[in-house]
Amino acid sequence: MEYLVGIDVGTSATKTVLFDRTGAVVASVSREYPLYQPHNGWAEQDCADWKDAALSTLGDVVAKAGVAPGDVKGIGLSGQMHGLVMLDEHGEVLRPSIIWCDQRTENEVADMLRLWPREKWIEVTANPPLTGWTAAKILWVKKNEPEVFARCRHILLPKDYIRYVLTGEFATEVSDASGMQLLDVPHRCWSREVMDLLGLDISLFGKVYESCEVTGTLLPEVASAVGLSTETKVVGGAGDNAAAAVGTGVVLDGTAFTTIGSSGVVFAHCDQAAIDPKGRVHTCCAAVPGTWHVMGVTQGAGLSLKWFKDNFCQDYVEKAREEGVDPYVLTDRDAARVPVGSDRLIYLPYLMGERTPHLDPNCRGVFFGISAIHTKAHFLRAIMEGVTYSLRDCNDILGEMGIGVDEMMACGGGGTSKLWRQMLADLYKCPVKTVKQTEGPALGVAILAGVGCGLFPSVPEACAALISKVGGAEPDAKNAETYDGYHALYRELYGDLKESYKKLAKLG
Ligand code: XUL
Repeated sequence: MEYLVGIDVGTSATKTVLFDRTGAVVASVSREYPLYQPHNGWAEQDCADWKDAALSTLGDVVAKAGVAPGDVKGIGLSGQMHGLVMLDEHGEVLRPSIIWCDQRTENEVADMLRLWPREKWIEVTANPPLTGWTAAKILWVKKNEPEVFARCRHILLPKDYIRYVLTGEFATEVSDASGMQLLDVPHRCWSREVMDLLGLDISLFGKVYESCEVTGTLLPEVASAVGLSTETKVVGGAGDNAAAAVGTGVVLDGTAFTTIGSSGVVFAHCDQAAIDPKGRVHTCCAAVPGTWHVMGVTQGAGLSLKWFKDNFCQDYVEKAREEGVDPYVLTDRDAARVPVGSDRLIYLPYLMGERTPHLDPNCRGVFFGISAIHTKAHFLRAIMEGVTYSLRDCNDILGEMGIGVDEMMACGGGGTSKLWRQMLADLYKCPVKTVKQTEGPALGVAILAGVGCGLFPSVPEACAALISKVGGAEPDAKNAETYDGYHALYRELYGDLKESYKKLAKLG
């Protein structure tokens, strides 16, 4: 029997799944780690946590599945996008990774816009300079930690650091590299023009592969530690959203999905590189060779619910432990009892600033309309609704760009919630389906590994054979009408607060 592994280096945990070649899960293990926030708006993670989690979960799935080392043909890597990993000449990590939701680089984005107008950035990298993307983070280190930058010899993305740990290779692939702001996205190669402009030597960056190309094999010491063979191939893999697209079967023009993980993303697959001239949504290379995708991003999606649960829902956590269920099953159950609109409580999910549609690193979360009528369950529902209002904004922009969809797939932790899928259906006014296989990004990169190892002829053919859609949420006309009113007010609130956010950012 032949097996494939997907490793997803997420924000809250690394999840490793071993699949058989029909896409069935044989073993799955995840390991959590912390997110550090040294200042308001900063977000860092320890690369050693990713390394330990990837190696231990890989060893664990192999042991649990009890497969022979040579039977695991390929490994695919998926991971949170945009994070900066800097290594010295010996391959040692120089500083904690500054991750995707970090917002410290407002000045560096302004510097980038002084070098080139916004339109030129969009022409070359398909996106305007963004605070969360890797290039601005590199410039921040160059300016603020010159001694670190001077010692830096390799720059990698989170999952590509794991590739280096597994194979010793410095490499990336087109989908994740698109989120660095250093890739010529339409031509799928590094942009020397951008690197020269920013004073970055191209030797800092690894080779860029297509997502299903083989980038190396396991190092002997890794293979023996995790119980695999040195013949096991590691393919390019994909950024977590491009990987989730493959794992959800969104690999054909005009198909789309919404994922609610730490971030929330509305993603549409395109045969051409469609670009929003206003730069409100991102255009990146997709994991299917020769194709692209457009995505709108809500910074604080599942992250908002996790923040609320971790800080204010110890009672739910304890009860869930007693009942042997996930705490979100209980928060979901109570939120479902609150009426649509949360009895006039509106949440703005800007805990880590916002990307689509505002591109504002300084905005912050708000509960608007708090009344003595409200209970904890109202706050839980308002968070889910606020995130969904933001996702509706993303979907509306895709519609404006002519990428309207008749049906939306849902995935990620939030996508497993029936209540959240209903909110999406009501706000998008279209059916929201999901897939039988819930492993999203891990399955996506395992499929890419299968293509790279010659087990499947192509990504779309593998998806057609392995992935099946299941029942969806249909939009409810009455809910949709109520939500339209709430969404309109939600949109106004950002405009009302925009100037106040600037003042807030300046307070000591
Ligand atoms: C996408 C983005 C997030 C991260 C973390 O642009 O920043 O989706 O990939 O999941």
